[in-house]
Amino acid sequence: MANVFEKVGEIKERIIKAINDAKDLNALKLVQETELNKKSEFNGLMSHIRELLGEEKVKFGQMMNEARSAIQAALAKKDEELNNKLIEQKLASEKIDITLPGYNFKVGGINPFQLIIDEITDIFVSMGYEVKEGPDVETDYFNFERMNIPANHPAREMQDSFYITPTTLLRTHTSPAQAHAMDEKSGQPIKIICPGKCFRRDDDDVTHSHQFGQVEGLVVGKGINFGNLKATLELFLRKMFGEKREVRFRGSYFPFTEPSVEVDISCMECHGKGCPTCKGTGFIEILGAGMVHPNVLKMSGYDPNEYSGFAFGVGIERVAMLRYGVDDIRKFYQNDVRFIEQFTRK
Ligand code: PHE
Repeated sequence: MANVFEKVGEIKERIIKAINDAKDLNALKLVQETELNKKSEFNGLMSHIRELLGEEKVKFGQMMNEARSAIQAALAKKDEELNNKLIEQKLASEKIDITLPGYNFKVGGINPFQLIIDEITDIFVSMGYEVKEGPDVETDYFNFERMNIPANHPAREMQDSFYITPTTLLRTHTSPAQAHAMDEKSGQPIKIICPGKCFRRDDDDVTHSHQFGQVEGLVVGKGINFGNLKATLELFLRKMFGEKREVRFRGSYFPFTEPSVEVDISCMECHGKGCPTCKGTGFIEILGAGMVHPNVLKMSGYDPNEYSGFAFGVGIERVAMLRYGVDDIRKFYQNDVRFIEQFTRK
C-alpha cells in the first residue's frame, strides 16, 4: 500500500505549493475552498485507512495528521504574509507628505452691508431689543394698509413698487414688520428691531438702488413718549458715529407715525460747516422716525388710549456709506473682492 502513503505526500506538496503560490487573499481563499472542502481529494484520503492494518494504519493516521498540520501552518503563514502586504500597500498609497506646502486659501471679507447690520443689531440688543425678520415679499395689506396707507393714498407713489401680483409686492420698507410684531405680541409690550431688504422702483444712481436695506425699530408700551424716541436714537447714533456727532430732529411726514421726524447727523466731512458731501447743509439725513400713529395701533389691536409707541427706520447703506466713506451705493452689490476685503469690524 505504499502508493497510499506516496499519495498523501504528493497531495500535501501540491496543496502547499498552491498555498505558497497564492498572489493575494482571494487566491488563497480559493485554494482553501477547492483543496480542503469535505469532498476534496485530500480529505478523501482518510477513507483509505480502512484498507490498512495494524502499524500501517497508525502510521497512515500520523501521516495524515502531519500533512494536515503542515497545510494549516502554510495557510496561516501565507495568510499573515498577504495581510501584511495589504497593509503595507495601503500605508504606501495613503502616505501624506508633510513636507509639501499647504494650499493657500483666500479668506474673504464680510460685506460692509452685513457689518453694519451686525453693529446696529448689537447696539439695540444691548438695550434689550428682540430681533425679528419679515418676508421680502409682502402683501399690499401689510406693506401699505396696515401702515395707514390706504389704496389711492399719494404716499404709495413715494414708494413706487415692484408688484408680484396685483396684491403682493417686494416690500418697499421694513415697516410692515411693525404690524407683524403687533399681531404676534397681540396686546403685549414690544421692543423689536427688524433688519432686512427693501425694494423700490428707483432709478439707480450713486445714492439710490432698487434694492437697499433698512433696520426697522418698534417700541410699544404704556407711557412711551417722544422723549424716549429722542433719547434712544441719540444714543444709537452716537454709538454708531461717535460722541461728537450732533443729532438733529426735523419735523416730517410719514402716514404711519404722528408726529413724524427725520433725523440728521452732523456731516463727518465738514463737521457742520457745509460741504459737497452734505450739499452745503452741514447735516446728513440718516433715518425716519415718529410716534406710532393711533390708526396703526388700532388696526393691530392696541388701544391708543392705553398704549403708545415709537418707530424708526434706518437706511443701512446710508449708514455704511457715512461710516466708511463709500461714495457709491452700487458698490455694495457688485461683490468686488477688492472693495469688500477692505472692511473689518472695529
Ligand atoms: N418706512 C419709512 C421709510 O421707508 C421709514 C420710517 C420707519 C419712518 C418707521 C417712520 C417710522 O421711509
